[in-house]
Amino acid sequence: MKCFAAVVVVLGLLGQGLADTDKCDSSNCAIENNCRCSTAENPIDVSEAPQLVVLAFVEALTSELYTSRWSVLLESRKNPDDSYIGATFYVPHEYTDYQRVQDLAAIGFEVGVHSISSLSISSNDPHQDYWKDANQSLLELEFGGQRTIISKFANIPEEYITGVMTPQLQLSGDNSINAFKAQGFSYDSSWHSKTALFPYTLDYLSGQVCDVGSNCPTESHPGFWEAPINDLAGQNNAVCATVAACFKNTTDLTKQEVSDFVYQQVEKQRNKKKAPVTLIIESTWFDQVETSWDGLVDALDRLEALDDVFFVTQARVIEWLKDPQPISNFTTNLKEVTAGCSQYSCTLTKPDGTTRYMNSCIPCPKTYPWLGNPEGN
Ligand SMILES: *[C@@H]1O[C@H](CO)[C@@H](O)[C@H](O)[C@H]1NC(C)=O
Ligand SMILES: *[C@@H]1O[C@H](CO)[C@@H](O)[C@H](O)[C@H]1NC(C)=O
Ligand SMILES: *[C@@H]1O[C@H](CO)[C@@H](O)[C@H](O)[C@H]1NC(C)=O
Repeated sequence: MKCFAAVVVVLGLLGQGLADTDKCDSSNCAIENNCRCSTAENPIDVSEAPQLVVLAFVEALTSELYTSRWSVLLESRKNPDDSYIGATFYVPHEYTDYQRVQDLAAIGFEVGVHSISSLSISSNDPHQDYWKDANQSLLELEFGGQRTIISKFANIPEEYITGVMTPQLQLSGDNSINAFKAQGFSYDSSWHSKTALFPYTLDYLSGQVCDVGSNCPTESHPGFWEAPINDLAGQNNAVCATVAACFKNTTDLTKQEVSDFVYQQVEKQRNKKKAPVTLIIESTWFDQVETSWDGLVDALDRLEALDDVFFVTQARVIEWLKDPQPISNFTTNLKEVTAGCSQYSCTLTKPDGTTRYMNSCIPCPKTYPWLGNPEGN
């Protein structure tokens, strides 16, 4: 009996305190076991490593934005392995055209989740309390619900939808990770980092700094990946997480200055450890800074010409860490969804009584899909 009690005590300790007490190293955290410590070190010789760049999008995917901006920006670009480039769209619900979401997935762009109600919440919640203080059940409705909506109305099998980027990059500590795991996600990309880090798993307490005012996970979440948003450096070394935020105070830049800025965000890592660079691109930037579109296109042209720079999905960055191939062997490895899309244009009512138009790949639901009713029954 005594012996049995001792075992229980030990297990209890392990369950509670693993993340806090055990330091992560290669002896207790091996990639073969889907475990990776948080580190700024490249898994292979830097001179042979590809520089991975993730272009990430978090806005509602309207037909207008798809046609006038994103397809123009991304289509027909190629990586050094001669594959078309990858990119990741973390899709919020409201105003999104799910036929266009299917179009993105069909050409191999990654579709992830940005929540159901971010656009209804953001203007009333300047301190992001809704997201920072949310409990697990609300977060499951927000992110799991959006995974259901995308899968159903864009006709994308759920196994393709594995990642989350949260509104305003706000986590609610362990509640968020517990919710993401419970809803079948395998990674989060919402935690920005001053130090350039490679994606890692949350088995052990992360070495990543948690900013004052942020709510970062502290418990152990074995096998769940964090893909940090490595900070960009704006003018006068101001730190910013998205490209538009870097230009908050400056609107009078030339196209060349914008291009140099974007190019240097990649160059900075490429000259060090080749930590992945995530560039969150928002179309509001094109309205704020007149030269931003031409500057961005120019920067992508310059980066595309480099033979060690690959534009990939965030999921591909994580896949690479599980099998870190050198440049010569690196493949973009796009995962095209071939599920097809029938065209339905739906006029639907939101729970608050307002009307939303939604293009869907399957017949229209009864009401506008929403929190707690993602299938629109
Ligand atoms: C979670 O938060 C929501 C919204 O604030 C609340 O309605 C709900 O009761 C909470 N659930 C639990 C289990 O605490
Ligand atoms: C914008 O200006 C404010 C106030 O001077 C400063 O704190 C902030 O770092 C600046 N942001 C950028 C991106 O330059
Ligand atoms: C590169 O790929 C080839 C063919 O798949 C393989 O034989 C070789 O081991 C790979 N090189 C490395 C460094 O993994």
